[in-house]
Amino acid sequence: MKKEIIQLEMHHFDDIGNLSTVEAKLLKQAAQAASKAYAPYSRFRVGAAVLLENGIIVTGNNQENAAYPSGLCAERVALFYASSAFPEIPVKAIAVTAISDKSIINEPIAPCGACRQVMAEYEKKSGSDLKVIMRGQEGPVLIAPSMRTLLPFSFLDDFLLKY
Ligand code: THU
Repeated sequence: MKKEIIQLEMHHFDDIGNLSTVEAKLLKQAAQAASKAYAPYSRFRVGAAVLLENGIIVTGNNQENAAYPSGLCAERVALFYASSAFPEIPVKAIAVTAISDKSIINEPIAPCGACRQVMAEYEKKSGSDLKVIMRGQEGPVLIAPSMRTLLPFSFLDDFLLKY
């Protein structure tokens, strides 16, 4: 057995004021999207804002359903819309945030596994890093410079093309 150590890079910012203008703008748009989420069951409103290479920002929020599994996360709503409306434009960054009806979220929100898989797909398709910016309603910001940090050893089209 050989042990492999994988190093993953994550950038931590104590305050949103330390971000670049475009990163702060993405988080702001994600928060606006979160406020419009359809989340009557969880009362956990998630918002996502996707930055495309041409500067366009596409937002999305979670859409829940009385038949619970029929709902969809904010990140996938935003990414699927971006890919359907602008299929040839690479995605450069996605900001994710959330608002809870119960209490203030003061830590970064981590995207679920299925959304990470979808992000990894579009990062590969785009041919360049997809930056993931995460924050709660307030407090610190975490930035994964690439999906490789959030989903190492991922299932991508390489396997399908190879076998
Ligand atoms: N949710 C998202 O929108 N994104 C995630 O990455 C995790 C969870 C939504 C799904 C559901 O509507 C609510 O948050 C509670 O799980």
